Amino acid sequence: MVNPRQRSAAAPAASRQTAGTNRRSPGLAANTAAVAVNSVDRDGASNEGTLQGAVTTWDGFEAFVTAPVAAPPLPGAPPRTLDERLAYHSRFVTVRTPVIEALARDVRTLMLLGRHQAVTARPSLIVTGPAAAGKTTALLQVGRVCHLAHTRRHGPAAAGHVPVAYVLVPPAASAKTLAVEFARYLGIPVTDRMSQAQITNAVVHTYTAARVQLVMIDEIHRLNPRTTTGAQTADLIKDLTERIGATFVYAGIDVTGTPLFTGVRGAQLAGRASLIDCGAFPARLGQHEPFHDLITAMENALDLHHHTPGTLPALAGYLHQRTAGRIGSLARLIRQASITALTDGTERITKTTLETIRLDHLAEQHHRPRPR
Ligand SMILES: Nc1ncnc2c1ncn2[C@@H]1O[C@H](COP(=O)(O)OP(=O)(O)OP(=O)(O)O)[C@@H](O)[C@H]1O
Ligand SMILES: [Mg+2]
Repeated sequence: MVNPRQRSAAAPAASRQTAGTNRRSPGLAANTAAVAVNSVDRDGASNEGTLQGAVTTWDGFEAFVTAPVAAPPLPGAPPRTLDERLAYHSRFVTVRTPVIEALARDVRTLMLLGRHQAVTARPSLIVTGPAAAGKTTALLQVGRVCHLAHTRRHGPAAAGHVPVAYVLVPPAASAKTLAVEFARYLGIPVTDRMSQAQITNAVVHTYTAARVQLVMIDEIHRLNPRTTTGAQTADLIKDLTERIGATFVYAGIDVTGTPLFTGVRGAQLAGRASLIDCGAFPARLGQHEPFHDLITAMENALDLHHHTPGTLPALAGYLHQRTAGRIGSLARLIRQASITALTDGTERITKTTLETIRLDHLAEQHHRPRPR
């Protein structure tokens, strides 16, 4: 068996975790205990792809979990250099959104619920929503919390344990390529001559020995159980859920509208999985203003010397129109405006700064629809 702990010798030792709270927003805390997942920038744009590449191995995931978190300056702390602040805004914080709260709560409950269910597949969760809505971020954030809680609970006995696994469904996945992805996460050697059954057996054996408790499968919308290959891949997942004693959480784009939930396999999945909707932030929800709270949480995390607090929440209507309430577009807009404010020396974000920034294509189309 591969000892993941030996393989991860290069991963940094657990480092400072600053449990932080948001100073002004009641609804959404800028979770300074969280590594902002956009920590590796790619062309200054959204960079979750780069990160996903890194966290799909145990070494990468452990490095992500134990890395120091991006956090706004503490009151009274010495001012940070321009370079440090550029790096901080490029990385930025992860806001503890209602979806992250709900996912964390449900994962905890399901893990307790399934603890003694040894034979059949345990109940699972699916995070569903449009592109760039924060699904992967929520998954990784909850995975991180689960990993840290496990390490805290078991202390030195946790050495050799891998509490959390994160696997991406590869494009045009077959059962074998998905099984290989599971193997790759724990560094299980796979040769061309191995059959799918052999790889699966090795995966089940190693995951069980490493005490994996939470398996997160992202990009689940890539599966189409209507095709033969897709059906076999869905069957493999079902098989793994029955043979590995872990709770499974999936994330994918608008899964209820995909073939994933149709047919026999869809019924097997829908019969066990609860949905967590990760959609756009509405401007108003009953008495609450979720999008306003989100902006407030992000503004509170800024490290700009002349920014006037309250400027961004006051622009909530304009920002909602520009981003359609999508957290990915909003985060990009605010991060990019912060970098502009730092490089041009104004150190503040105003509507004029925001107006100069071109957003992702989806948001731009929404904001400036083409005339018929
Ligand atoms: N909770 C959060 N706090 C701060 N920023 C966030 C949060 N969630 C998402 N973001 C921002 O939104 C971007 C997109 O998020 P993410 O990659 O999680 O979306 P996704 O729903 O997985 O997208 P896709 O469907 O394309 O995979 C991130 O790079 C990050 O900048
Ligand atoms: Mg994603």
